[in-house]
Formats: sequence, C-alpha cells, structure tokens
Amino acid sequence: MNTGVLTPQEALIFRLRELFETAGYKRFKMGKFEDYDLYSRYKDFLVSDAVISFTDGSGALKALKPDVTLSIIKSARPQPGKTEKLYYNESVYRQSGSSFKEMMQCGLECIGSVDETCVLDVLSLAAKCLKEISEDCILSISQVVSGDETGSEKLSMLQKEMDSLGFSDIVRIDSSSEPAMRYYSGIVFKGYINGVPEAVLSGGQYDMLAVRMGKNCRAIGFAVYMDALERFLNSDKSSSTHDSNSMLKVALPKGRLGEKVYKMFEAAGYECPEVLSKSRKLIFENAEKRVSYFWVKPSDVAAYVERGAADVGVCGKDIIMEHDPDIYELLDLNTGKCRMAVASKKDFSDDESRTLTVATKFENIAAEYYASLGRDIDIVPLNGSIELAPLLGLSDVIVDIVETGNTLRENGLMEYEKIADISARLIANKASFEFKNDMMLKLSEALGKQVEND
Ligand code: PRP
Repeated sequence: MNTGVLTPQEALIFRLRELFETAGYKRFKMGKFEDYDLYSRYKDFLVSDAVISFTDGSGALKALKPDVTLSIIKSARPQPGKTEKLYYNESVYRQSGSSFKEMMQCGLECIGSVDETCVLDVLSLAAKCLKEISEDCILSISQVVSGDETGSEKLSMLQKEMDSLGFSDIVRIDSSSEPAMRYYSGIVFKGYINGVPEAVLSGGQYDMLAVRMGKNCRAIGFAVYMDALERFLNSDKSSSTHDSNSMLKVALPKGRLGEKVYKMFEAAGYECPEVLSKSRKLIFENAEKRVSYFWVKPSDVAAYVERGAADVGVCGKDIIMEHDPDIYELLDLNTGKCRMAVASKKDFSDDESRTLTVATKFENIAAEYYASLGRDIDIVPLNGSIELAPLLGLSDVIVDIVETGNTLRENGLMEYEKIADISARLIANKASFEFKNDMMLKLSEALGKQVEND
C-alpha cells in the first residue's frame, strides 16, 4: 500500500494503533449509538450535559455517543486478578458552540486489577503517543487529592520511573494537585504539543467510576483528541519559528483599564513604549524583553488566550464568569475593580409568585445566580444601556456591572444585591503555560509586585 495517500491524521491513527497493538491492547469496536440512560446516570463524568438523543423503532431512548469510556467500562468483564487492555478509535459527538461536532478520539482503557506497573505502562504509552505526534511535547501529571493525602511522594516516584524509561525531557509533575472529582482517583494527566493551543491528550485513573458502575475493579485510560491536532498535522511545522517560541504574546484590553495594566507590565520590566503610541500598527514588539503586545476588545481577550493567539492576557473576572473559558487565572491584578449586581427602580419589590424578568448582557451569570436562589426568571438579552430596561418596563431588574454607582443614581435606579466582586485578572493559555512556564511564572511574579493592595 502506498502510505502517501493517507492524510496526516489517518497516518497518525495507524501509528497509534500499532503502538497499542504492540503493547498488547485489543481493539474495542462499538456502534455509534448507546442507551441514553447511561449518560443521564453518569452525566457528571461527561464534559457537557448536551447529548444528541432520539427514540428508536422500539421506543427506546438512544444517544449518539458523547464519550467512549462509559461504554467500555459498561461492557468490560475483567476476570479476578486480570486486566482488560482495550484501545479504540471512535467518533464522539459533542456540543460545540450552539451546535454539535463529530470528534475523533484514539485512546485506551485498562480495566481490572490496575497496579502501579499498569499505571506506569499507561503513562509511558501516553508519552509515546505524544512523541509520535511531535518530539516537542509535554506530559503533565498531577494527582487527585482526597482527605489528608498529599500524593507528592507518589508523584515524585512516578517522575523517577518515567525518567528511567527515557521520558525525563517531556514529563512535568504538577504538584498543585487536582481537586477531588467524583469519578477520578489517583493520577490525572494531560498531553500538550508545542504549537497546539489546547491539550491533545487527557487521561487518568477513574476507579470511582468503575465502582459506581458496579464493577469491582480499578480503571485507567486516556484519549488523544484528533480534532485538536488537525491544524497542527496539516501545517508546515518548520514555519513555527524559534522567535514565536521565545516571545510572550500579550493581549491587552483596549481602553483606560488596558493602559493602566500596560503601565504595570512596563513597571514589571516588560516595557514597549510604542504600545501607547497612536500608531495604526496592530502588534508591538520588544525583542530584547521577549514580549509582544496587541490591543483587543476587552470582551475578546479571553477568546484570544483560550485559542492560543495570545499566551497571556488581561480580562475582567466578569468575562471569565460569563464565558468560563478554558484558561488559567494566574493573578488578580486588583485593578478595574467593580461588582456584578442586581439593580432596579427604587420602588421595585419582588413578587415571588411570578417570573422575574432580568435584562442583562451577562446571561450565564444571571441564570446561574437565580438558579442558586431557586428563582424562576426570564432573561432579556441586551448589549448595552442596560439601565434603560427597568425604566421603560422591559424588565423588572437588571444584572450588570456597577463601578461608581453613578449610572444607577443618575437614572433613579438602586443596587439590590451584589452577585460578585470583579477585578482584572492575568490569564494564560493552558498549553503556553506548559511550554513557556518559566517566562510566565517570572511575569506573574514581577506583576505581582506591582499589584496595589488595599
Ligand atoms: C458599564 C455598566 C454600567 C456602567 C456602570 O457600562 O454596564 O452601565 O459601566 O458604571 P458606574 O457604576 O461607574 O456608573 P460600560 O461603560 O462598560 O458600557 P456599556 O453600556 O456599553 O456596557
């Protein structure tokens, strides 16, 4: 066969399959449909509640698989003292924006008597998968901690063992420990490829899930996300210059807050005075300080950082709360301070016997806040001048940013409840955080010294 006809993704899938087969894993093949009940019972295990469902000819509620692991554990029957080693190469269907996306996953599961050797075996296969994609990769390993456990001893032992297997260059131990999650226990790991803005591999031990599914066994596994790799595999890797690796790309929020924040960067030793010039240039660079800046709309900063167009950025906590971007929050800059609040006309009194209408541009924050109170609401989504809504009878209340309170006062409105304190945060792309770790920690530390404490 002429392997030249394979797309880079297809070629990678075959290389991973070869890796898994050689390691003694058997292919697990399944259909596209699964009983919907499986996902409603274990929905906490899924990345999202959104599942495509339909009723089949016999009236049974079915779903297009949003996940592979649940189906594998459901059908696994490991013999006492034995381990079932399975790999798969399957599509899953997950929410993406307002629609759904078919995503190819290639991964493996080890179910049964999972001992330390097995854990190490799975970790080294994860490392080998990453190396199949690119030598410039990182496998970040952390530990779910419950109770008084610290887990640090186990992690440092794992590090030594991975070092002795020849993976010292790519393994990074993250001792900041994962918070205890319902289904995971033991180690959790993620794989990153330099040039891909998100994790391309994710896995861990999920003994709790196996137990909850009535299996008297332990389990560990991981998946490689082929769709996250699509752009990388089809790009000319030689064009990612050394320069882009050594520069820290910073997204600043346009406006007064952004200028104030830039001054903090400048005082922290990351100056690039051109940033404040009125030039029409879009990207400003100081090669000596290895930093480049660009201005974006404040509400877009998180998107630039999440998708890796910027390594770090500064955005308000309101945007983080509203959009829940997949980023790290590195530092509270303690500036741009305001609050998210509920306000209305002075004579407003809440009649709990009817639905409350809430005008806001922060729909998720409002929905979550009122859900926590068990209050039924109807949201009126607006983009600006929110204060007009109660004045013109468009809504009962508003959920909005209050800084000085002047806008409310001048319009005869009153603040009723504070939902959260807001301030500007330094945020980081998760993959950049792995590959530019030293630069980011240095920046965060230097900026930390500029933060004015109250
Ligand atoms: C925000 C917010 C309020 C105002 C509050 O609007 O929506 O209208 O600031 O500030 P204050 O308490 O100091 O009066 P922004 O200026 O961001 O414009 P927007 O109306 O486009 O949201």
